[in-house]
Amino acid sequence: MPQEKPFSTKLDDVPKGSWVRGSLKSVEGVPLLEQIVDNWDKVANFQAQPDDLLIATYPKAGTTWIQEIVDLIYNDGDVEKAKRAPTHVRMPFLEMVPPPPLRSGVENASKMPSPRLIKTHLPFQLVPKSFWEHNCKVVVYVARNAKDIVVSYYHFDWMNLAQPEPGPWEGYICKFMECQLGWGSWYDHVRRFWEEKDKHRILYLFFEDMKEDPKREILKVMKFLDKELPEEVVDKIVHHTSFQVMKDNPMANYSSIPDTIFDWKASTFMRKGEVGDWKNYFTVAQNEVFDEDYKMKMLGTSLKFRSKI
Ligand code: A3P
Repeated sequence: MPQEKPFSTKLDDVPKGSWVRGSLKSVEGVPLLEQIVDNWDKVANFQAQPDDLLIATYPKAGTTWIQEIVDLIYNDGDVEKAKRAPTHVRMPFLEMVPPPPLRSGVENASKMPSPRLIKTHLPFQLVPKSFWEHNCKVVVYVARNAKDIVVSYYHFDWMNLAQPEPGPWEGYICKFMECQLGWGSWYDHVRRFWEEKDKHRILYLFFEDMKEDPKREILKVMKFLDKELPEEVVDKIVHHTSFQVMKDNPMANYSSIPDTIFDWKASTFMRKGEVGDWKNYFTVAQNEVFDEDYKMKMLGTSLKFRSKI
């Protein structure tokens, strides 16, 4: 019998110093962390199963929020079940390749029992083909307005010591507009999933709508997943997935990640969770340049975002 390589799901088991700020390489022109690119064949050849649910987002769009919502729907609103493990253990991050002895997202997903909930930040064209091969795969996609994404990503890049160092804010906005951040162009990401949503089983949600009326959006997710739950259970899910409750929930706020990986002095993960925080960071001049560039990049799409509610 071939011996299984030793592995761990405990981030504390990663030897000190092996978690370092990586650099980006690219797959089909999309910049990704180099360890993801070096492991790319495994991601591209990942075998999806008919009852998988893929949660797809551009980074910082509210991934963790929708993960918590979907997990609670799957578990009929059982809050204790949703607290069985931290988010990253409950739902593998498909393309992620952490240092040993941790297993990659692909390895974790292949060890999981069905029905699997899988997270990805990959743009549509890089999602493993097997997800689209049969029309039985479903994807919940969450999009968030670009300006709040840049602000949230900037704080996260200071905090997450696996990401390239973000550098000063001024230059960071430029990198975002030049589509040089990890997972590439936000503009192409949100547009392509929007274009594809009616050709596949994709539910396209907006962070801003979830903030405005979380119950309405949770009911949309339930309908999409063919799930019916009593009203009081839906209300419980709304409560349990509110910003403040998730912020205080160690199984949903990433606080189990040691400070060798997340620099908790730089930021918290559950930072503000607002629509319009960008106004506290963009200068008037930066906003004008951003809007001009945005108009060109989003030309011809029916996709509309709200950057305030
Ligand atoms: P901010 O940095 O603006 O606070 P992701 O999970 O994709 O990395 O996204 C993280 C962003 O979603 C963070 O945004 C975080 O605060 C926000 N978020 C997470 N859970 C939320 C919730 N329940 N309600 C509102 N925002 C939430």
